[in-house]
Amino acid sequence: MSQDDNENKKGFIGENFDIGDLPILDPSKFHLLNLKDVFGKQIKENIDTFEGIFRPLYKSGFLLYHREICSAMAPIVDVLDHTTGVRKKMLMFGSNNYLGFANDETIKKKVIKTIEEYGIGMAGPMILNGSGTIQKQLEKKLAEFKGKEDAIVLPSGYQANLAWVNSLITDNAILLYDEASHASLIDAIRLGKKRAFRFLAQDMASLEEQLTKYRSEDPKRDIFVCMQGVYSMSGEVADLRPAADLCVKYNAFLVVDDAHGTGVLGRGHGTAEHYGVSSKVFLTMGTFSKSFAVTGGFLAGDKKTINFIRFFARPYFFTAAITPMVASAVLAGIEEIEAHPERVQQVLDNAEYLRTQLDKAHIKYIRTESAVVPVFPPANSVFRKIALELHKEGLFINPIEPPAVTLGTERFRMSVMATHSKADIEKAVAILKKVFEQ
Ligand SMILES: Cc1ncc(COP(=O)(O)O)c(C=O)c1O
Repeated sequence: MSQDDNENKKGFIGENFDIGDLPILDPSKFHLLNLKDVFGKQIKENIDTFEGIFRPLYKSGFLLYHREICSAMAPIVDVLDHTTGVRKKMLMFGSNNYLGFANDETIKKKVIKTIEEYGIGMAGPMILNGSGTIQKQLEKKLAEFKGKEDAIVLPSGYQANLAWVNSLITDNAILLYDEASHASLIDAIRLGKKRAFRFLAQDMASLEEQLTKYRSEDPKRDIFVCMQGVYSMSGEVADLRPAADLCVKYNAFLVVDDAHGTGVLGRGHGTAEHYGVSSKVFLTMGTFSKSFAVTGGFLAGDKKTINFIRFFARPYFFTAAITPMVASAVLAGIEEIEAHPERVQQVLDNAEYLRTQLDKAHIKYIRTESAVVPVFPPANSVFRKIALELHKEGLFINPIEPPAVTLGTERFRMSVMATHSKADIEKAVAILKKVFEQ
């Protein structure tokens, strides 16, 4: 933005907001990151400014956030189209409901039975108001599922990341984290003012450089290394083996955020199992918001560490427990994975089928082994216009823009479900091809 633009923007507040002149309103230019150019020092003004920018873009369909889904999460969903006000059917390729558990009959029946027996909630934190039999059962099951001694459950994966960073990283410790880490880890570091340093994404030379530096400074200090099993925005699977070996070599603790690997890789047990390194992982973090299709998160590790977290992690004990229904949904989900490994295979097969269809249609995407398939728009296209066309054509996929990815690497994140049919996948690719060719 030029200095002149900055001068002009002063008149563009609230009622008098002259949207026509604001470059940020161009759907090809608007990014949440750009807002720092138009925001000032007073929050009321910023709220008005944002409203003036957001509303026209939203109404015209150039912002596809918070779309209202009026049915259960499934391959076909009912969406209340905010651009037309009409309820319509859409092909869902934008949900992390990888195993199709969100509307699974067996799981729903078990959850209903749990509600009848245990009610709807705990009404307080587990540390004071009681842990709940069903939550206790879940912790035990999660520990077994991840090949660990114990596990702790939290209201979200976000809080699970806050919890281990908050309780385990002392003032003397160092946390080395992959630059592509999830926002919840970044926030955990920032909020806790922890000493943390990035290494290049999945780059073991970069990690070793940091390990050498910080280990040689202090042979005794705690060093934690945090990686994701599956990268949420690229779908890439991190080979955890060299990282695990480096952690052994430099006496560091390996923590794996396996939000997108759990339920999908390693027969559903996750990325560490997939690579056979579970025993070298100090702590596994996971979420219930993807494959298990509810909300909540967990940490699995050795008994003493998990017990320590129970008493020292503020994001755990200053917040209410997950509900019995959530706990029973996850328990039922794990039972389903164990009883029907073919469901896990099905999501992998579907993702592979999607990739072969994209190849045939000459659509550019990132080839991964996970259920996340990021598709790139054609060169020189206006990302937001394509997103809107896909929406109009009835394909629900997630437009991913800064700050979630860097500028210029915008993509459509497709998530595959075990419950998608081949016809669903073919139809999705046909829509992509049609819109991209237009
Ligand atoms: C890699 C990763 N870690 C952590 C989280 C946070 O999980 P939750 O949605 O349970 O807060 C997410 C969710 O998007 C994620 O993708």
